[in-house]
Amino acid sequence: MSGVPDNSSVVAENTAYRGEIGSSGEDLVLVLDFGSQTAQLIARRVREQNVFCQLVRHDLSAARIRELNPKGLILSGGPASVYGDAAPQPDPEIFDLDVPILGICYGMQVACRSAGSEVRSAESREFGHADVRVHDAGGLFEGIPDSLKVWMSHGDQVDDLSEHFVSLAETDTCPFAAVKHHSKPHYGLQFHPEVTHTDFGSQLLSNFVRNVCGASGSWEISSVIEREIESLRERVGNRRVICGLSGGVDSSVVAALLYKAIGDQLSCIFVDNGLVRKNETEMVRQQFADHFQTDLHVVDASDRFLNELAGVTDPQKKRKIIGRVFIEVFRDEAKQIEDAHFLAQGTLYPDVIESGANPDGPAATIKAHHNVGGLPDELGFELIEPLRDLFKDEVRQMGLALGLPDDLVWRHPFPGPGLAVRCLGEITRDRLETLREADAILIEELHTAGLYRDIQQAFVVLLPVQTVGVMGDARTYEDTLAIRAVQTDDFMTADWYRMPYDVLQRISTRIINSVRGVNRVVYDVSSKPPSTIEWE
Ligand code: XMP
Repeated sequence: MSGVPDNSSVVAENTAYRGEIGSSGEDLVLVLDFGSQTAQLIARRVREQNVFCQLVRHDLSAARIRELNPKGLILSGGPASVYGDAAPQPDPEIFDLDVPILGICYGMQVACRSAGSEVRSAESREFGHADVRVHDAGGLFEGIPDSLKVWMSHGDQVDDLSEHFVSLAETDTCPFAAVKHHSKPHYGLQFHPEVTHTDFGSQLLSNFVRNVCGASGSWEISSVIEREIESLRERVGNRRVICGLSGGVDSSVVAALLYKAIGDQLSCIFVDNGLVRKNETEMVRQQFADHFQTDLHVVDASDRFLNELAGVTDPQKKRKIIGRVFIEVFRDEAKQIEDAHFLAQGTLYPDVIESGANPDGPAATIKAHHNVGGLPDELGFELIEPLRDLFKDEVRQMGLALGLPDDLVWRHPFPGPGLAVRCLGEITRDRLETLREADAILIEELHTAGLYRDIQQAFVVLLPVQTVGVMGDARTYEDTLAIRAVQTDDFMTADWYRMPYDVLQRISTRIINSVRGVNRVVYDVSSKPPSTIEWE
């Protein structure tokens, strides 16, 4: 994504992460993040090779990198032009470390430029698919055919290779689609191996981390679990931990890990805010009973939430109210657990990365959301975040390894403010009930059709719109529901799901026949961007 004119002028600010680097004790590969939309994906793909990988700022010093002793460095893409005034640059000394480097797109341009190459705006920019011809099999391209389809997204390209780099592959318009330094283990790819549209992309990354870097490939969820349990035991000692349950996979995995580590020193709190899905509270109770013999507090706070939300239609106000009341209710309940010292939260690695982003950046202004359901520091507990190094798919693997049931582990995510942001307009008990019934039908039909796991998130939205219908011989004037189903890798971008017509028809017929007050169902065919996944 180099030199692509867009409005992301926030490269440098977007790359300051909090968090520990290299804490896994395993071979480590670092991704220096130059602001690419796909930097997280690079880390995920590397971890799929069982090599631990973390994102760090693009300008992490060579001295610190030396201390961390990574097996390899990957320089990500980025929206800037390497020759631009504010272009993010790495510490130039990283190229003198004795560490293999793979530059991707902007990262390749940075690497080549540091060795004396010219980078220029390309005569013909490449976005989307391109055909690459490989003329140096072996090394990075070992086991990969000599012609392959890749995904490109660049306006700039390396114009000459100086005397240091040699070309490994080309496209019709880009003579240096892949390059290698002739004496150092430095490589560059003008295309993006991390995206699924690139054939053999995982193989390329594997060749780099396993063959070039020599990383051992021993990072596995089972060893992460063992290590985490050990460190939780050590940290907690004989003190008590509170864990907030939400019914979703992250908090359940946190609870399962803690339970394994400290048994009945764990207390869990589930707040029923009246905005949960059908049978959710019972499900949480049941799953808890099946897996944990420890203290569970279920707080029915639905009246309190729904009273505060009465008459509120503005989505941001809804979120603020829910966030505030949640903290109040949680705090009151936590006070009942007298000897509690720690609070456990299911913070994931993408949250850690995103919370390091510039709060004034464009991403922060769309919805005031991802802190809803979070708890402030003032609660006075020491925080435990055992998932903060993990991506969602890794958390799911961990859940399965810890013996949590499939249907919980693969459950679609559900937002903190719950049905409130799917009940457009006013929130009333009746409207929530309509939504709950219809949503349960949708999810059941997706399971029956075997489609639930093809979709990353599906739900029903109740619109503040009545339309005319005819039932029997009578005119009706009733509610409209929208169905949303999306496919996504990371929830930052998403495509609407091409749902088979017969499944849509069954869902629509069942909803209209059995959910009172609804006479119309519509299907949402918008992608993100420009839409978002939730409607509010
Ligand atoms: P959007 O609607 O921004 O959603 O495309 C992306 C993902 O985030 C979830 N989401 C939320 N999660 N609190 C949450 O915990 C919120 O306020 C919130 N709003 C959206 C959404 O369900 C999707 O998975």
